[in-house]
Amino acid sequence: MKLETNDLTFSYNSHPIFDDINFKIDSRITALIGPNAAGKSTLLKCIAGTLDPKGIILIDGTNVEDMSRKDLVNIRSYLPQESETNASLTVFETLLLGLVHSLSWKVGQEDIEVVSNVMKYMGIEDLALKNINKLSGGQKQMVFITQSLIRDPKLLLLDEPTNGLDLQHQLEFFELIKKITMERGTTTIIALHDLNLAARYADNIVVMTKGEIYATGSPSSVLTQETIRDVYGINAHVSIDNDGIPWIKPLNSITNRYFSSNSNSNLFIE
Ligand SMILES: Nc1ncnc2c1ncn2[C@@H]1O[C@H](COP(=O)(O)OP(=O)(O)OP(=O)(O)O)[C@@H](O)[C@H]1O
Ligand SMILES: [Mg+2]
Repeated sequence: MKLETNDLTFSYNSHPIFDDINFKIDSRITALIGPNAAGKSTLLKCIAGTLDPKGIILIDGTNVEDMSRKDLVNIRSYLPQESETNASLTVFETLLLGLVHSLSWKVGQEDIEVVSNVMKYMGIEDLALKNINKLSGGQKQMVFITQSLIRDPKLLLLDEPTNGLDLQHQLEFFELIKKITMERGTTTIIALHDLNLAARYADNIVVMTKGEIYATGSPSSVLTQETIRDVYGINAHVSIDNDGIPWIKPLNSITNRYFSSNSNSNLFIE
C-alpha cells in the first residue's frame, strides 16, 4: 500500500503546526522521529482522519476524500499516544469493540474467534476476563496495541506505542510489527523517541522538527551526528554496526536549558 501526502497543512485554530508536508511511503516500517512538540502526533492524527488538514492524502493513488468511511475504517488503524478508556469493560469486550465497524447488532461466533485468535497471537489470553481499568500501564498498552491490529489494517499508525512497555515487550512488539509489515504488506508509521529502536527496526526514517520535514531516508543516511545535533541540540557519537545499522550514543546537550550559565542556581535553595 502506498501513502502520499501533497501539501498537507494544519493549524490548531489559527496556530499553524505544519505547512505543505509532502512525503511518499510504501509497505515498510517508517519511524517518525523528532523533538517534543515537532508535530508528529498532529501529523499522525491528520493521516488517521481524526483531524481535518488542508491538502491531499492519497492511499494507493486515491484521495481519501473520495473513499467511503467504511473503506477507510477497514484500511487504516490508529493508536493514539495517550490511549485511555473510562468504560468498565473486560479486555475481551474492549477488543471486541475494535471490530465495532464490522459487527452487526449481534456478536457472531466469527467475531469471538477473531478476538480469541488475536489475543493468543499477542500472548494476552490470560487477561481476557480482567477489567481493563485494573491492568498495569504496560498491560493496558498491550491491549490497545492488540486492538489496533485486530482488523488487519493496511495502514497502521502508531503513536509512541512502546511507552510503558518493559524491554522484553518493546523488543517483542517491534519484532511483531516487522513480521506483520512484511507478511501482510502493511504500511506502518511509528512515532517514537528511541533513536536506536528506530535505527534497528525502521526501513525508513522521517525526521520532523518545528513542523517541517528535516530529512527522510534510510536509518544510516538520516541518523547522523549532524542530524542529531541540528534536530535535538545534542552531541552524539554515531557508529555503524556490522549490519549497517547506526548506533547512537548521546553525549551531551549543546545548550543545556537547566544548567546554562545564566540560570538561577539557587532555584531549590533559599
Ligand atoms: N489540541 C491541541 N490544541 C492546540 N494545540 C495543540 C493541540 N495538540 C497539540 N498542540 C500543539 O501542537 C504542537 C505539536 O504537538 P504534537 O502533539 O503534534 O507534537 P509531537 O511531535 O507529537 O510531540 P511529543 O513528542 O511531545 O509527543 C505543539 O506545540 C502542541 O502544543
Ligand atoms: Mg506526540
